[in-house]
Amino acid sequence: MSSSPASLFVVTRTKFLVVVSLIITWWFASILPHYQPAIKASFKARLGEAVQQLPSIKVDWPTPGHNPRDAYNASKLALLIEPRPLTHLVPHILHMMAVVPPDWRFLFIGTEESVAQVGRAYSTQYQQVIGKLDLMVLPEPWKIDTKELVWRTLTDSRFYDEFLPGVEWLLKYESDSIMCANSEKSLNDWLDWSWVGAPKTWDDRFFGSGGLSLRRMSIIRQVLEFQARYNDTDPEDKWFGTRVELLPGAKVPPDLMHALAVEDVYFEKPMGFHIRNGGSFLPVQVWLDPNRRQAIFDYCPELALIMDMRLKKEACPGDDSFGEVSPNGPNDTRLKMFAEAMAKAQADAANKTAHES
Ligand SMILES: *[C@@H]1O[C@H](CO)[C@@H](O)[C@H](O)[C@H]1NC(C)=O
Ligand SMILES: *[C@@H]1O[C@H](CO)[C@@H](O)[C@H](O)[C@H]1NC(C)=O
Ligand SMILES: *[C@@H]1O[C@H](CO)[C@@H](O)[C@H](O)[C@H]1NC(C)=O
Ligand SMILES: *[C@@H]1O[C@H](CO)[C@@H](O)[C@H](O)[C@H]1NC(C)=O
Repeated sequence: MSSSPASLFVVTRTKFLVVVSLIITWWFASILPHYQPAIKASFKARLGEAVQQLPSIKVDWPTPGHNPRDAYNASKLALLIEPRPLTHLVPHILHMMAVVPPDWRFLFIGTEESVAQVGRAYSTQYQQVIGKLDLMVLPEPWKIDTKELVWRTLTDSRFYDEFLPGVEWLLKYESDSIMCANSEKSLNDWLDWSWVGAPKTWDDRFFGSGGLSLRRMSIIRQVLEFQARYNDTDPEDKWFGTRVELLPGAKVPPDLMHALAVEDVYFEKPMGFHIRNGGSFLPVQVWLDPNRRQAIFDYCPELALIMDMRLKKEACPGDDSFGEVSPNGPNDTRLKMFAEAMAKAQADAANKTAHES
């Protein structure tokens, strides 16, 4: 029995320590996450906004007191629409924010899953709080789960009226397009054009490919005023492209020097690249030549963020770096044929342009 007071004491001290440590923990917890609840509140409020809005109702951003969004130019918006919760979305969006001029705002439109993926990073929460970035799940009946549904959304004037009021310049990028920090140009250098993206062919006079493209909303609205896209037809960029090109008053760039991005046609030092589907269909005229490939990666190393890549040491023995395995090194005949075809395509394009003008 003599041990019982001692064991009682021990138990009491342990209990006491547990209580004290709990108190300390709670106290700590109460002073630490001041920042967190504020973010959650604004995040939820904005989601609530998007969820509650019906398409016929205009979205009004909350304005009481100081609005951090006022620090940016409300007419310039970079938009990413992505339904899949891809792991690279956060670094990708942060990189784009660093390369796009600082007066631009960013909007991410996703599903519950992809918005949660973007919104859970501390750095994107910070960007939301300072008014640089908004995350949005579109309310019913808007849907973005497939490409066709995204194209329907982007060719519906109500979408722009309700969710992008006041925007005049729209940079549309995708989860597989990126801007290069090494570019000597600024996105603001292209503000004069009605639409500028990536050329599809050498003699393309309208750089309509929209994976990384800058659009003037006044022109887009003009097109949507008198035209409607049929469901399950051309992609939105092609659809807009054929119409913007013919629209009186629309300004489209005169030559390759003014294209914004590389997709199917290579030119040096582009503002960015669009790699369709993470590189599962790389156009040979841009990517086949290993020296060109090296030059591209030296110029735009951030491509590694959006491309599926393998280490060189993982290559098969005898890989000729031109997409074939040949033990005797690169096939010179094939390379020569490729170089000749490229030269001819360029000469044809130059000839065509010369004859037209
Ligand atoms: C926003 O940017 C455009 C184009 O650079 C400029 O004309 C306009 O004055 C800017 N707006 C504000 C409020 O700074
Ligand atoms: C096109 O699809 C939308 C739904 O995305 C639907 O509301 C609309 O009626 C369809 N248009 C036609 C002409 O079928
Ligand atoms: C090189 O490529 C050409 C054209 O594709 C083919 O006819 C030839 O057999 C190839 N040579 C070798 C050694 O693989
Ligand atoms: C350029 O085009 C004209 C007319 O289409 C043709 O006669 C000429 O041979 C072409 N030149 C070259 C170098 O392809």
